[in-house]
Amino acid sequence: MPHPISFRFNSNQCIWTPSHKMLLRPHYFTLKPFNLFQTFSKNIFPKYKFTEIKRIGSLRFSSIMASSESTAVSTQNATPQPLQVAKRLEKFKTTIFTQMSSLAIKHGAINLGQGFPNFDGPEFVKEAAIQAIRDSKNQYARGYGVPDLNSAVAERFKKDSGLIIDPEKEVTVTSGCTEAIAATILGLINPGDEVILFAPFYDSYEATLSMAGAKIKGITLRPPNFSIPIDELKSAISKNTRAILMNTPHNPTGKMFTREELEAIASLCIENDILVFSDEVYDKLSFEMDHISIASLPGMYERTVTLNSLGKTFSLTGWKIGWAIAPPNITWGIRQAHSYLTFATSTPMQYAAAAALRAPDSYYEELKSDYVAKKKILVEGLKSVGFTVYPSSGTYFVVVDHTPFGLDNDIAFCEYLIKEVGVVAIPTSVFYLNPEEGKNLVRFTFCKDEGTLRSAVERMKEKLPKK
Ligand SMILES: Cc1ncc(COP(=O)(O)O)c(C=O)c1O
Repeated sequence: MPHPISFRFNSNQCIWTPSHKMLLRPHYFTLKPFNLFQTFSKNIFPKYKFTEIKRIGSLRFSSIMASSESTAVSTQNATPQPLQVAKRLEKFKTTIFTQMSSLAIKHGAINLGQGFPNFDGPEFVKEAAIQAIRDSKNQYARGYGVPDLNSAVAERFKKDSGLIIDPEKEVTVTSGCTEAIAATILGLINPGDEVILFAPFYDSYEATLSMAGAKIKGITLRPPNFSIPIDELKSAISKNTRAILMNTPHNPTGKMFTREELEAIASLCIENDILVFSDEVYDKLSFEMDHISIASLPGMYERTVTLNSLGKTFSLTGWKIGWAIAPPNITWGIRQAHSYLTFATSTPMQYAAAAALRAPDSYYEELKSDYVAKKKILVEGLKSVGFTVYPSSGTYFVVVDHTPFGLDNDIAFCEYLIKEVGVVAIPTSVFYLNPEEGKNLVRFTFCKDEGTLRSAVERMKEKLPKK
């Protein structure tokens, strides 16, 4: 008979055998009906060698997850089977966002970790999706986007950057920016090509570059200003450098690249014939300065892929509608990869995305003023709790130094914060090639309603003692 107790593990870290055994890499064991979280972490895991531990620095976070997609299992009739994953992905673990969001549920913690709003997207966009479904726009879309969305992207880009582009030849609609990043990298990067990244970085960059066989070179942005060390960038460039992958406004730091920094990057790229992949998903969440697309700088459009999506701007992160803008010769490579990754993305949501992008200016103004108010609550709250809060000009994130609270590193701090305080933040060490560089920093998001932000601050004020 199956045992009545079910445990939840993340599917990337384990497999269930047909006979309901749970296996963990590289060894296996059988689930027993006891306090899983404590006993496993203290007594059982130390016996096993997990390659992931090194990177994440905490066995509990890397391997024990309360997954919302869990399965009830029996503990009987085990047959050990090794976990299977291709070498190119062996070193990667479950994304930190999945891990933290799962732990938030498990501990009833307020989730200021993963960057998804806890409020809904605008009615007019949802209505447009419903209308498209009713209008039978439900079959495969054209591979590179429904014409209406390609046009809306081009119109928006002209308004924002001043650049006039051909919606048919220079816009590729994808399943979120994540797919746009993947199609760009897989479509344009050869094995052995060098790609420069700014650390900390959004976690899909490293994994996707790894899938493409790229050689990654990291340039670290350091607090307090996270400015770009141009000399380091210069010396990282070699004859094998194919691209620079950048992100402004920048997740996790909230840094926005200044015109001077963009000009310096641009001149290095032009001089050395390097492509730029510019992830601008937070372009509409720029508070302290205007966002500048590097594609709009002289000589840059022809070597730039501008990546964006609907999720952050319209609080619809679950829709996963994104796009890549690039000149036709570069678009060719992106579309080749996109054709065989997803081919096309959700048809009715594309129609709704077109309606969203044509929102009046007042929508974008309101979005910003709402976020300015939320940011104020969180930043002032975090300061009053005792954190050193680094300046954030854009995105819905702030990075803080947690060391006043006396925990060993960012992972230990986040673990303490979830279990003892009831608030989730994201440890930043996972966003660096060298995790040591992020060990003093954690990221909070303010894409939550004001009440939630205030409650999180209150919990921290009450339960987080300074050491
Ligand atoms: C910098 C950055 N790029 C891309 C994405 C993914 O965007 P999408 O949800 O459209 O795939 C995110 C999501 O958090 C992000 O922070």
